[in-house]
Amino acid sequence: MEGVTDRTFRALVLQRNPPRCLGGVTSEFLRVLDRPRRPSEVQRHLWDGECPGEGEHGRPLGLQLMGSDAQALAHTAAAAVELGLRWIDLNFGCPARGAQRGRAGSAVLRDPHVLERLTAATVASVRAIRPRSEELWVSAKIRAGYDDADCIEQLAQAVEQGGADFLTIHCRTHAEHYSPQVDWTRIARAVACVSIPVCGNGGVGTHADLARMRNETGCALVMVGRAALADPWIFSGRSVACGEAARFLLDYARGMQATGASPRATAARLKQLLKVWRAGELLPSEEDRSQRLRERVPEALFAWLEELAEGSITERESRSHR
Ligand SMILES: Cc1cc2nc3c(=O)[nH]c(=O)nc-3n(C[C@H](O)[C@H](O)[C@H](O)COP(=O)(O)O)c2cc1C
Repeated sequence: MEGVTDRTFRALVLQRNPPRCLGGVTSEFLRVLDRPRRPSEVQRHLWDGECPGEGEHGRPLGLQLMGSDAQALAHTAAAAVELGLRWIDLNFGCPARGAQRGRAGSAVLRDPHVLERLTAATVASVRAIRPRSEELWVSAKIRAGYDDADCIEQLAQAVEQGGADFLTIHCRTHAEHYSPQVDWTRIARAVACVSIPVCGNGGVGTHADLARMRNETGCALVMVGRAALADPWIFSGRSVACGEAARFLLDYARGMQATGASPRATAARLKQLLKVWRAGELLPSEEDRSQRLRERVPEALFAWLEELAEGSITERESRSHR
């Protein structure tokens, strides 16, 4: 997720969830305008000197591209595959104003023909480099529609016609943005009308929801969005203790600083997570949460996590010390 699940976060989540529970991850989107992105830009978006073909922690790493210029998308995807990437994901779901202005993201859902054309151009360009027999996926992520979900079948079929290997469907429409209500029957409708695997997305809040979405919709895969920010163990369903939860955040902070982030920027990112964090009962009450969010000194935030991670204090004790 753009601005949140950066490379450091993804790596920590992969380390903590076994492959049978978490099959792979995609990057946040790389915006492609009217010219292809250079290989160096693709590389900067994804990894630091690692072999991209290996994926992160032995699991596929997808590069997500967002754009509306077929040639630029196709050339960027080809460059990424030349670099060793084995999974290109196309973002046709982003509702942000910037994306809409460029007729990209969910704006593409206004016309199934455009959706099919952009998908087909990308598939053709990467298949020219690696044939179907080789491990390589092109996937497309759509929403259930633009204003409403009436055309969901047409949209899902456009992705299939475009030659995508699988389809991810975020069950909200563009108009619904990130509304709390979700309608998973829309995912079932997409599953029923295509023969490629469908990955369901939208409104997964707990580990139990992963199986529930599969059972209710027949989707082959499930994608977790924001709930992974509250509990990075959601994929395996492990319930962690306070110290382990604090260790995650501390490792995240250290990882960010290792990539050059300032203490202030690191603390801001930590607070972004603490706003929604649930794992390990690190923040047993909303009052605890708001107190931590009000902390102005980055080092104080890091020291709190350090103490919890080392098990020297429990969260309850830490509150009585305040
Ligand atoms: C801040 C933020 C950034 C996001 N960035 C991306 C992105 O880069 N690519 C993408 O496919 N989806 C992105 N999404 C959408 C999520 O991946 C997901 O589809 C959406 O949140 C619905 O799933 P959920 O209800 O499980 O959160 C973003 C969502 C949020 C809130």
